[in-house]
Amino acid sequence: MTISIINGPNLNLLGKREPEVYGTTSFEEYLELLVKRYPNITFEYFQSNIEGELINQIQHAGFKSDAIILNAAAYTHTSIGIGDAVKAVPCPVIEVHISNTFSREEFRHQSFISPNAAGVVIGFGLKSYDLAILSLIE
Ligand code: DQA
Repeated sequence: MTISIINGPNLNLLGKREPEVYGTTSFEEYLELLVKRYPNITFEYFQSNIEGELINQIQHAGFKSDAIILNAAAYTHTSIGIGDAVKAVPCPVIEVHISNTFSREEFRHQSFISPNAAGVVIGFGLKSYDLAILSLIE
């Protein structure tokens, strides 16, 4: 099984960025754990701060991976283009967020991805990605 993990803007700073909200582990460190924990899964990882690059990657992975785990970060709340890309691809897309977006500012309560996501995992720290993987393999 191939799972594409796609992370949006500022998630390249995980571990350094607002550690009280997002923790102290970088995504690269966490990905190493995932690779060890799920030896039967091939993970493809992509991060970009650029909206169009995220859309290109969703289109690319969406026709060749078995599933996408997408944390579109701030674009979740603004990007109709990313929402449309999620709708356009045949593979399931699980939306994840590290923080509980519903306990934060009101503008984070809206998602252009959720209506077309296969599922949504919010607020469990980096474990949100793990829970999304479990939903795909069990
Ligand atoms: C986030 C939540 C978003 O509101 C925020 O803009 C992010 C990260 C999360 O994983 O908690 O950058 O997607």
